[in-house]
Amino acid sequence: MSLLTVEDLKLHYPVRGGVFNTTKAWCKAVDGVSFSLNPGETLGLVGESGCGKSTVAKSVVRLLKPTAGKVVFEGHDITHSRSGALRTLRRQMQMVFQDPAESLNPRHTVGQILEDPFIIQRLGSRTDRGERAVELLQRVGLSADAIHRYPFEFSGGQRQRFGIARALAL
Ligand SMILES: Nc1ncnc2c1ncn2[C@@H]1O[C@H](COP(=O)(O)OP(=O)(O)OP(=O)(O)O)[C@@H](O)[C@H]1O
Ligand SMILES: [Mg+2]
Repeated sequence: MSLLTVEDLKLHYPVRGGVFNTTKAWCKAVDGVSFSLNPGETLGLVGESGCGKSTVAKSVVRLLKPTAGKVVFEGHDITHSRSGALRTLRRQMQMVFQDPAESLNPRHTVGQILEDPFIIQRLGSRTDRGERAVELLQRVGLSADAIHRYPFEFSGGQRQRFGIARALAL
């Protein structure tokens, strides 16, 4: 059985405008994408800027609700899953965002950022979470003292590693 199956996925963004900010048109960012992935497989999606790659990824992890099509993860159709089911799904499926500057809260320390997934999922004690944060930093090749610092104190590549560590957390 494949780990992930995406069938005829469509994601159309509303284009708003006018005095009443109504939907004037639709931007067909993703319009009929299908693929499947087996455990251990890696899929690269290549295409020009703005062609819809990130939109596919965000739809697959259900940060966006697909306009049409189907996303099946480990045999479960998650296309229409609601918040409770999605929260459980987050333990198995995570995203590393394209822009680390935008996806890490600038007001939170690296430690807080890495503990967030455990807090949201109500996992472990405060001490456990702290220990896990240090382990995660080591796993992505950064030193434990990053815990008390803020994302802006790091390079773009180091920040991206915080995003990877957070994605691996659960
Ligand atoms: N929230 C949004 N509302 C409306 N249109 C959007 C939104 N997000 C993205 N788009 C549009 O959807 C299209 C696809 O965007 P997407 O971010 O998926 O591209 P991409 O392939 O990841 O590009 P890049 O290689 O630059 O990261 C773009 O034309 C973009 O303008
Ligand atoms: Mg992108």
